[in-house]
Amino acid sequence: MNIYEYANILLNGSSLEDKLLPAQDISFEGSSTSFKVKSVPGRSDKLALSTKQIKFPKISTFHLEDRRGLALHFFANHELLAIEMMAAAILKLSAADTKENQLIQKGLLKTIADEQKHLKLYLNRMKEFKVEFGDYPLNDFFWRQMGDIEDYGAFFSTMALTFEQANLDFAEFYAKVFDEVGDEKSSRIMNIVLEDEISHVAFGRIWSNLWKKDQSLWDYYKTHLPGNLTPARAKGIILNVEARKLAGLDEDFIAQIEGYRDDYTLTNRKSWDKD
Ligand SMILES: [Fe+2]
Ligand SMILES: [Fe+2]
Repeated sequence: MNIYEYANILLNGSSLEDKLLPAQDISFEGSSTSFKVKSVPGRSDKLALSTKQIKFPKISTFHLEDRRGLALHFFANHELLAIEMMAAAILKLSAADTKENQLIQKGLLKTIADEQKHLKLYLNRMKEFKVEFGDYPLNDFFWRQMGDIEDYGAFFSTMALTFEQANLDFAEFYAKVFDEVGDEKSSRIMNIVLEDEISHVAFGRIWSNLWKKDQSLWDYYKTHLPGNLTPARAKGIILNVEARKLAGLDEDFIAQIEGYRDDYTLTNRKSWDKD
């Protein structure tokens, strides 16, 4: 199977099995022209994307298994969306058959494998809390950004340097929250995700640093961030500076992220209430 056929199954296949298909013997030949990135990813009815917003559970309720199950349901949705967005990137953004293109695709395959691993970890843990994937609405916010992304510069600014960067904070934060209620198993999953996420942020950082030329990474990032996204989305409730350093983000970039404010305040973030 070539990489475009593989990406097409991940994106347009509708079952969980399709989304979790491992990459085996993938060739980098062929072209994406016969595959479409539709307005929504393929999803079974149970997993259909929804515009309905439900609230992320408050941490004061995390002693309850079903609330922890709901939290993991949010995280699982993000993993599935990451898989689909990376597959969409392969189909939509791979231009010429260049060495650079192939290196990016190889990196994306590695990242997809990690996201599949995270999705499985969350789904298995949710099951122990009697929560099935699709029991709650699956929001489409991350996916909606895909329409505004026309090149890998914008893709890495959105995915690695915004959503995955923010997850450095959320993963660390919720690892502690789970730990505090004695849920070591879920806490461990968050730590695995955190460790992998550092490498995903680094992947986007490496390419962005290469393409930014004499711009600062911060300026490059801001100009490549599409549509209605702002750097406020690149951080969570706490700021995990250590993980950002491990991902190779420079001090100026980290300071800019830390100091960034706009109308979109974290307290308005419907799904991530602190209390
Ligand atoms: Fe992930
Ligand atoms: Fe990731």
